[in-house]
Amino acid sequence: MKKKITVPEIMATKNSDKKLSMVTCYDYTSAGLVDASNVDMILVGDSLGMVMLGLPGTVGVTVDDMVYHIKHVVKGAPNTFVVGDMPFGAYNGSIEKAVENATRIFAEGGCDCVKMEGGMNAVPYIEAVVKAGIPVMGHIGLTPQASAMMGGFKVQGKSTEAADLLLETAKAVEKAGAFLINLEGMPSGVAKKITEELHIPTMGIGAGPHCDSQDLVWPDILGISDWVPKFVKKYADLRTTVIDALNTFADEVNSGAFPTPEYSYNTKVEGYEE
Ligand code: KIV
Repeated sequence: MKKKITVPEIMATKNSDKKLSMVTCYDYTSAGLVDASNVDMILVGDSLGMVMLGLPGTVGVTVDDMVYHIKHVVKGAPNTFVVGDMPFGAYNGSIEKAVENATRIFAEGGCDCVKMEGGMNAVPYIEAVVKAGIPVMGHIGLTPQASAMMGGFKVQGKSTEAADLLLETAKAVEKAGAFLINLEGMPSGVAKKITEELHIPTMGIGAGPHCDSQDLVWPDILGISDWVPKFVKKYADLRTTVIDALNTFADEVNSGAFPTPEYSYNTKVEGYEE
């Protein structure tokens, strides 16, 4: 059976041959499937805003939403390390609020660490949450919570100045005490340099092959989403499989081909013959 990886073991993957894999998922059943696989980690991401709640982005997801989903994922995946995302507004403007919300996500949600998205602005909050005894994964680059500021979901670090700022931010996040950092949506060379210069492992999503680890999101990796960004490799085509299965079910119900006696309870009851 798979053994849950720990924070020190994750940190020890830096400069080792082991590359960790992480998948974002949001519910008990999906978590059980990840738990049965060789994937090392689950992120209960605030991308659940789009995937589970039908929102246009991640803004609007609440701490209550996160705690609710994290609890059920943790129940479904007892042998997998679970990262719980801190949503938009969970630490904006107040150290106390940051620690309080991180504590809710970590203690009520029952996950193994929290993820805190943001650039230099997030650094003081990361430091406070780490000091409160909660392991933190940072998240820089294309940070969807800042999509309004970025003018959409745009690749970051595309000029030398912007790349320098990402490198500086990554170092500040490390110094604040994060044990792992997500690099999202940046050129491969920028992620390579950050990975080389940090002492903590990097986890890449849309950041090329040089990161220490890689993550993808459940509906993308399984081909459930109808549109996926360039960096996504679909490892299955569940959208087609599911829609084909549903169409076959509808056709068979319509034609009377389903259910046959094989799928029926055939006990003879007097007065109720077929
Ligand atoms: O919410 C999420 O799924 C994420 C990943 C894209 C890193 O933050």
